[in-house]
Amino acid sequence: MPLRTTFIGLSLSHPLLVASGPASHDVNQIALAEEQGAGAVVLKTACSDKYEHMRYWPRPRYKLLDWDKQIGGRSRLFTLYSYEQGYSGTLADYWAFIEACKETARIPIIASIFADAAEDWADLAVRAEDSGADAIELDISSPHRPGTLDFEHTFIAAIWAVRKAVKFPVVVKLAAGPDVLQQAMSAQECGADALTLCNRIRGFDVDIESQRPILHGNFAGVGGPWAKYYTFRHVAEAAQHVQIPISATGGVMTGEDVIKYILLGATTVQILSVILVNGWESISKINQEVEAYCKRKQIHSLQDLRGEALKHMTSPDNIIRWSGESKMGPRNRRKTPPGISS
Ligand SMILES: Cc1cc2nc3c(=O)[nH]c(=O)nc-3n(C[C@H](O)[C@H](O)[C@H](O)COP(=O)(O)O)c2cc1C
Repeated sequence: MPLRTTFIGLSLSHPLLVASGPASHDVNQIALAEEQGAGAVVLKTACSDKYEHMRYWPRPRYKLLDWDKQIGGRSRLFTLYSYEQGYSGTLADYWAFIEACKETARIPIIASIFADAAEDWADLAVRAEDSGADAIELDISSPHRPGTLDFEHTFIAAIWAVRKAVKFPVVVKLAAGPDVLQQAMSAQECGADALTLCNRIRGFDVDIESQRPILHGNFAGVGGPWAKYYTFRHVAEAAQHVQIPISATGGVMTGEDVIKYILLGATTVQILSVILVNGWESISKINQEVEAYCKRKQIHSLQDLRGEALKHMTSPDNIIRWSGESKMGPRNRRKTPPGISS
């Protein structure tokens, strides 16, 4: 079975995980994910009691932007705009949810938490471990995270505190942006067992008829098939600098996207929007596409694929640059950087 993958010590039938969100908010969804061949599920993020208001969502909370711009159904262009914060139950509900998932599921269950004070992060993580979760993902990167919580002061302390408090694997989910690489290396230093790259970004949209912001009237998470390109870059960069495994997430619609993430160094790949837009069958369809690729390329283990494209990346100093005016004749290889006359 070429798709079997080991991730943070868990043996997964497939490298495809259901990402934290509305498709992992209910115990019945875990069975659907498992039936379709998900390797594991990351549960919807539970917030500490201090952020109780994040358990109540505005309605509607989603909008598919650009959906009307499909060209004869052929374009896969869309942006999922959403404002959905934490798991909608109490913390007691969440621990019972983990227990219920573990009673029925055969695939690993990764809990997900959000807090601010380091002791709250540690407390939630311990409770998740006691409830039977196989690992914990620290959602330090939500596009809706409140206030001024920052990586240096809040999240470094949180990762340390969680790492010290629990025995099960700790995964840190980072936001896309200029600091990802530095944060990835810091998370590894703090003892993270893996990274999830990258959460959705915070965006905004307005309606020109009403001249008001859409939906709830404030910023929202944005993502879509286009989002994979910035995450491809972040995964490629991180994979070359950290030793811990990477779970990639962002913009996956097809098996081809999954293969690209693995070629760039990911061990597992998390999906959500494609399930919301195209249904649970997306999981088995994507798995089949990855399997067909492996068969065609005679790949017996995804390990043989992991990071393969990185070996062929050109360093900025070695990019072959050309100069010369002739439209027809051979061009000359440029020997000096642009802007410096030779
Ligand atoms: C509606 C919605 C809710 C989400 N909720 C969470 C969440 O609670 N915790 C979290 O870590 N990520 C959350 N995410 C981010 C997803 O887990 C995932 O990383 C992201 O959507 C990128 O994957 P995709 O492009 O396949 O959707 C949410 C995403 C969406 C669209």
